[in-house]
Amino acid sequence: MKDLYKIAKGVLPNSYSQYSNFKVAAALRLKNGEIITGVNVENASFGLTNCAERSALFTAYSQGYRKEDIDEILITTEQEDFISPCGACRQVMRELMPDDAKVHFSTVNGETKTVLNKDLLPFAFTEKDL
Ligand code: THU
Repeated sequence: MKDLYKIAKGVLPNSYSQYSNFKVAAALRLKNGEIITGVNVENASFGLTNCAERSALFTAYSQGYRKEDIDEILITTEQEDFISPCGACRQVMRELMPDDAKVHFSTVNGETKTVLNKDLLPFAFTEKDL
C-alpha cells in the first residue's frame, strides 16, 4: 500500500484546487497491477468540482475497465488528519468498485486507515434498485 501512497502523493501537485486550496489525490489499483490516479479538479462554478476519487474512477472506466477489474483505492491530502470520501464519492465508489474493495485514507505522513467500500455507504441506493 506504500506504493499507492507514494504515487498518490506524487500527483497531489496536479490538483486543480485554487478555490479551496485543498489538494486531494487518489490512486486506484487494478487487479492487473496497473495504477490509475486522479486529483480534484475545481471550477469557478463551484458545484462542478470533480473529486479525486471520481477523477480516478472515471479515468479507469474511460479506459474500458469495469468494477471487476478494480482492487483498491487510496486517497491522500496535505492534511495531518484522516480525510474520508465525501458522500458523492461514496455513492460513485459503491457502484463503480466492488463492495469488498478496500478504501484506504492516508494522512500527509502516510499513516493509513482502511475500510471496505460497502461499509462507507450503508443502505445504499444502487443499480440493483432500478
Ligand atoms: N474533495 C475530494 O477530492 N474528495 C473528497 O472525497 C472530499 C472533497 C475535494 C473537493 C474540493 O475540490 C476540495 O476537496 C474541498 O472540498
